Amino acid sequence: VEPDAAWRDEVRRLVDQRDAVLLAHNYQLPEIQDIADFTGDSLALSRIAAESSASTIVFCGVHFMAETAKILSPDKTVLIPDERAGCSLADSITAADLREWKAQHPGAVVVSYVNTTAEVKAETDICCTSSNAVDVVASIPADREVLFCPDQFLGAHVKRVTGRDNIHIWAGECHVHAAINGPELAERASQDPSADLFVHPECGCATSALYLAGEGIVPPEKVKILSTGDMVKEAKATNATSVLVATEIGMLHQLRKAAPEIDFRAVNDRASCRYMKMITPAALLRSLRENKDEVHVDLETAARARASVQRMIEIGQ
Ligand code: 13P
Ligand code: SF4
Repeated sequence: VEPDAAWRDEVRRLVDQRDAVLLAHNYQLPEIQDIADFTGDSLALSRIAAESSASTIVFCGVHFMAETAKILSPDKTVLIPDERAGCSLADSITAADLREWKAQHPGAVVVSYVNTTAEVKAETDICCTSSNAVDVVASIPADREVLFCPDQFLGAHVKRVTGRDNIHIWAGECHVHAAINGPELAERASQDPSADLFVHPECGCATSALYLAGEGIVPPEKVKILSTGDMVKEAKATNATSVLVATEIGMLHQLRKAAPEIDFRAVNDRASCRYMKMITPAALLRSLRENKDEVHVDLETAARARASVQRMIEIGQ
């Protein structure tokens, strides 16, 4: 299947016929991003899914994102073009792991990144995404212990910004972001000293970016730790002429669209998420034709998970 005009017409025809809304995460293939009704970060897409009046949501992203849409809209049909599109970060904690961790810290408030399964969300007090993790943790009274899972790099970032020492952080990571490392970032930054650095907080190099700023190797105002949605906003706001981007490489497409005059370059151009890339033009077409793969979350789990997801979409509006 070629992503040509005939493909685009057929996809849009089927979307209308099914009364569907087509959502795409910023890491999707460019042709998938371009045909979607909305492209954005996890938080923005969750909000759109919750507010949409369409009867079907077609989620071009990974499984936990589609599951989150289903949790928020249990009466809608939620489709993901390939249900094998998982997430190594979501796989790094199970509901049983979390229950055991909670038992060791009675009374602690559990904050889970949205990159988790519905079962983990059901054991969670408040979910967050990279764009509101700091606001979520800051909203918890200072004397309450916090359990933050599953991403250790985002957790370290939140701990640093909130200055909180009663936060315990799970040792999970995303294999794609963890591999974007400090030495690589330092080398790229030294080759292009005037560039802005856009760094996703899931990256292994987020701490190194702040170290480079702290040591004066990179001007501190050039280092920006941002969610994918905030990267697009910053692309429109910055006066830099070149930007080094530390995140999954699908992100470059929206950045280049947002600011065509800026030279955006990946810190690590091998940082591609194979799960995100499972959503191919052929998979999207099959999904719309066959009404597959449908995402199901059992009603009791969804009801328990909904409270924590709803808090997430309310905080940092
Ligand atoms: P954002 O929430 O910043 O879009 O990041 C999500 C992510 O890493 C999904 O893989
Ligand atoms: Fe998960 Fe990492 Fe892929 Fe995002 S980039 S979906 S966190 S494996």
